[in-house]
Amino acid sequence: MAKRYVDERTAGDRAGRERGERPRNARRLTACADADYRSAMIAEREVHPVPPCAAGRIPWLGAAPRLLRDPTAFFAEHRRRLGDTYLVDVFGRRLLCVFSPAGVRRLYELPEDEASFGLATFDLLKAKVPIEVFLGRRNRPHDLFGNEEVQRYLGVLEDVVALEIEELGSTGRFEIFRAMRRLGHRLGFGSWAGTEAASARHLDRLIPLFDRLDGSDAFVRPIRALIAQATHQARERRAQRGIEEILGEILAERQRDGRRPGDFLDQIWDSFADVTPAERPIQVARDVMVLHMGAQSNLYAALAWTLVNVLLRPDLLARIRDGDDVLLEKTANESIRMAQRSITLRRVLKPVEVYDGRGTYRVGPGVFLATMLSVTNTSAGPDLHRFEPDHYAGRRLAPDVEIPTKELVSTFGHGRHSCPAQRFAITAIRISIRRLLEHFDFAPEFTTAAPRRRQIGGVARAQRPCWVAYQKRPLGSARQVRPTAS
Ligand code: HEM
Repeated sequence: MAKRYVDERTAGDRAGRERGERPRNARRLTACADADYRSAMIAEREVHPVPPCAAGRIPWLGAAPRLLRDPTAFFAEHRRRLGDTYLVDVFGRRLLCVFSPAGVRRLYELPEDEASFGLATFDLLKAKVPIEVFLGRRNRPHDLFGNEEVQRYLGVLEDVVALEIEELGSTGRFEIFRAMRRLGHRLGFGSWAGTEAASARHLDRLIPLFDRLDGSDAFVRPIRALIAQATHQARERRAQRGIEEILGEILAERQRDGRRPGDFLDQIWDSFADVTPAERPIQVARDVMVLHMGAQSNLYAALAWTLVNVLLRPDLLARIRDGDDVLLEKTANESIRMAQRSITLRRVLKPVEVYDGRGTYRVGPGVFLATMLSVTNTSAGPDLHRFEPDHYAGRRLAPDVEIPTKELVSTFGHGRHSCPAQRFAITAIRISIRRLLEHFDFAPEFTTAAPRRRQIGGVARAQRPCWVAYQKRPLGSARQVRPTAS
């Protein structure tokens, strides 16, 4: 197609030359000899042809007031009204929303240098988290969670869950999302900030600091990101320095005692051997911050939904208590599918083409390609509005779940940016829920639970608190299941 366009122009110019005219578009045509002309001609933030648009009346804010009230309902309703591909202008950004099988597949397949996951995520988080936290990072989950590392983190996960269970005592009540948030912190600190960070000595100092820094506020409670921007991130910077100090104490203790447990914290410490002694603990702490924020965006909420779904279904609870770990993992995946509120975003860097199954859009740099998992996850197949652990076979959708393309259902993402911590996360959920069910009988004080309506991004928090009373089970009543990796 692009080639034909070049030829047509060239033919036109040839006719002009024959009439003694200067070739029209000479410079442009040179460029198109080695570039896709149709794409190259698209301007910043432009989409051509222009799809239907969910417009807003207020400049810059655009559709924000309606979108933020209930993002899932907003995207689903506009999909019904405008079709599978439409534009939304919001907070000065232009989103090209895709929901058709071909459109969503294209979003996931585009390479990073054409449509960037990293820049889209940074664009979301930068309002809440000070930029220096992101600069110079060396240890990503990809580096920590190789297959051979599983045994290394299994033991830590068991140890920190045991600490949490001990702290709960023999009887009491807790709000599930709040308690799982604390457990999520503990699982994370134990795994990448050293078991010291997960111990009572440091845990209660670290949690409020991380909760203040929390990047997921940018999409769970966008108003907090606006406040952070208005206050030049003063609270967040104080939290950041507090975390750097505590990590500094832990690292200094290790140095003083010559202690090297060979955990992820040692690995992160070693990777900064070339920086000055004063700078080294700060850089280590910032790697830990980015890892931990990535984890807390989803892990604790996934833990909470798994527990909620098990406690609301006595038959499921009985089978899991009886030792069925396969069922427990399917329940975790299904809980995540139903609770996903992630908006998948890619920031277009170079002109790209997006075929949505009906037509091709040329998309200019600066546009964000977007899809909303809560819209497709529960509507892509006939039975997907229903909670059913058998929708999963291991970590994948079961073969008998019929959907037009696998990308329309996502728990941990697809393609090159799918979650590098999937195995770790499912293992952490399985160990935590199994041990909690072994140790306690639970009496939920709720009969239903729904995702938080205003959330845009990540696994849902709950719309209303989910309280549960618990009591230690008699010794020997629980069937003990040996820890294994997923
Ligand atoms: C149940 C828990 C989790 C869920 C449901 C989840 C979900 C996801 C999803 C859907 C994506 C893809 C995003 C996209 O395509 O736009 C993703 C990517 C990512 N996740 Fe997770 N995640 C979880 C746990 C974690 C944990 C524990 C960590 C860190 C320790 C983590 C770190 C990351 C990172 C760094 C990426 C980006 C990968 C890249 O740059 O290519 N996630 N996750």
